[in-house]
Amino acid sequence: MYELTNVTKTYNTTKKKIVALDDVTLSIPDGQMVAIQGPTGGGKSTLLQMLGALDRPTSGDVQLGSSTLSKLGDHRLAAIRAKEVGFVFQGFNLIPTLTALENVETALAPLPGSGADRRQRAQDALASVGLGDRLTHLPAELSGGQQQRVAIARALVKRPDVLLADEPTGALDEETRDEIMDLLESFWRDQGLTLIIVTHDSGVARRAERRLHIKGGRVTELAGQPA
Ligand SMILES: Nc1ncnc2c1ncn2[C@@H]1O[C@H](COP(=O)(O)OP(=O)(O)OP(=O)(O)O)[C@@H](O)[C@H]1O
Ligand SMILES: [Mg+2]
Repeated sequence: MYELTNVTKTYNTTKKKIVALDDVTLSIPDGQMVAIQGPTGGGKSTLLQMLGALDRPTSGDVQLGSSTLSKLGDHRLAAIRAKEVGFVFQGFNLIPTLTALENVETALAPLPGSGADRRQRAQDALASVGLGDRLTHLPAELSGGQQQRVAIARALVKRPDVLLADEPTGALDEETRDEIMDLLESFWRDQGLTLIIVTHDSGVARRAERRLHIKGGRVTELAGQPA
């Protein structure tokens, strides 16, 4: 369960102060699938960074389960990122010089377990996204949809409670988009994940249980669901 209370995030640039999130109060129950929409610059990625323990708010509190993310030091935040939260990005963010298998294994590096154990889990994760026969391919040797599958395997191999996806289908054609969404939804259902997807695509957003809109750093509920 996420509880955000009066979360504000400002960036000080040389020219002016930018309010990226403006007094956001929001709760997201465990296991919910949420789509976040809104115009460019509205604060979507900033909100994901707060949820993903990548950054702290300027003021306000971000609570995930029993942890108050906004108050934790860097070390504890890194541990939460390593264990509890998976990320998928629009640009896949795979390491170009590592194979699919090695890319997925990187997510397990900060966690306990032997090398052989890591390798087996990474193999299983790639098999679960339909890439069991592409283990030794480099990212450049995979299609866009396949690269995104590797990124999803990397995000899920550690069995996180939360999966945060920032425009996961933005770089894909419609058919591949639907395949990737089917895959994300099946993991969401089977693993009881909290799935939070930033998207510009209403076709993607319609699949969520709940839709939020962010503009000028302010969050509103779409589709009449309770906050
Ligand atoms: N590191 C930063 N330094 C200064 N300003 C920033 C920084 N990151 C984001 N911003 C500003 O904060 C605001 C929100 O940015 P954010 O990236 O959250 O938008 P977004 O909704 O994800 O947009 P997009 O759809 O284009 O990805 C924007 O005005 C942006 O310019
Ligand atoms: Mg963004």
